[in-house]
Amino acid sequence: MALDPLVRLQAVSKVFSGGIVGLDAIDLDIVGGEFITLLGPSGCGKTTSLRVIAGFENPSSGNVLLDGRDITSLRPFDRPVNTVFQDYALFPHMNVAENVGFGLSLRKLSGTEQARRVGEALDMVGLADKLRARVSELSGGQRQRVALARAIVCEPRVLLLDEPLSALDAHLREQMQVELKRLQAQLGTTFVMVTHDQTEALSISDRIVVMNKGRIEQIAAPATLYDRPATRFVASFIGTMNLLQSRFVARDGERLRFAAGDLSLDASSETGETPAAGDTRTVGVRPEDFLAASEAAEGSAPARVSGVVFHGRTLRLHLELGQGTSVIVDAPRRADGFQFSVGDVAHISLRRGANCPMLSA
Ligand SMILES: Nc1ncnc2c1ncn2[C@@H]1O[C@H](COP(=O)(O)OP(=O)(O)OP(=O)(O)O)[C@@H](O)[C@H]1O
Ligand SMILES: [Mg+2]
Repeated sequence: MALDPLVRLQAVSKVFSGGIVGLDAIDLDIVGGEFITLLGPSGCGKTTSLRVIAGFENPSSGNVLLDGRDITSLRPFDRPVNTVFQDYALFPHMNVAENVGFGLSLRKLSGTEQARRVGEALDMVGLADKLRARVSELSGGQRQRVALARAIVCEPRVLLLDEPLSALDAHLREQMQVELKRLQAQLGTTFVMVTHDQTEALSISDRIVVMNKGRIEQIAAPATLYDRPATRFVASFIGTMNLLQSRFVARDGERLRFAAGDLSLDASSETGETPAAGDTRTVGVRPEDFLAASEAAEGSAPARVSGVVFHGRTLRLHLELGQGTSVIVDAPRRADGFQFSVGDVAHISLRRGANCPMLSA
């Protein structure tokens, strides 16, 4: 990346007592002003990464840099970093304004200045009228906003958010995603969020860091991760992806032609690698990139319908290609009334222009 990073993790490893590896030589550059999300399954090292950036955890090896300066041994409170914790960690005996102003009261600011900044922060999260409310009187969404206001009032360079929306119901969660994004754009502050919800990560982030077992699998913008996942793990973690063991046939310009049984597949390679003819690779195909027809066509393969699931605008077909290979196809609901039923044979082929990645391990 051309821009100098605001935060840089350099070969950061964290080994906990008992030899448990939390982070395994992570390299990560976070650019000033971006909304970056750490995404991955439970235990992959998301919280540990945040704690290392915040200074709550010392890396076993490697360095943390801020603006090019090594801050690895700097204490948490000496870093221009603030954290919004999953459980909000609000003070129950204090009212909203006291909670938000707590961080400021540790600094040498006049009472008027403190009150002004608390008011501003609460305004930004839409809680200006709750200044004197007790925390126990607030809804989950309102508590979430207080926690946010408390974190932004100190004007950190980096705001760390660990699963900030996980306690909210689905509807409120979606609303708060939009608000978080708006707040981040308004402040221009760098947000580093942790989630294990891929939909949330895709909808809110400028870039996503996909983590697996203490390592980074891929860092990319949401659309790139979706269209061009680099590994099988990323492909299967982001959205639904059919992973087909395929035989390499030939290269045709940028396209790599594969065959999975009778089915012809066109794939692209992120690395530029061209396999040898006859080599086996995994090709990823999104359910919407297959066509299902009642007649055979060139490059199509017959498949038996084993399940049909109503998805609103589309029907999700579960199909058996033979030799134990199942595929999922999202087919538009047909206006003419024709629909596949369980037991039917559908002829599936790749949609023209579909972008199917050839995946590494
Ligand atoms: N203080 C600790 N002592 C020992 N092991 C730890 C400690 N903290 C984390 N770990 C281990 O390190 C690994 C990474 O943990 P981490 O909390 O970073 O995962 P996570 O990605 O945040 O998972 P989750 O989605 O469940 O919150 C896990 O195997 C975890 O058990
Ligand atoms: Mg965690």
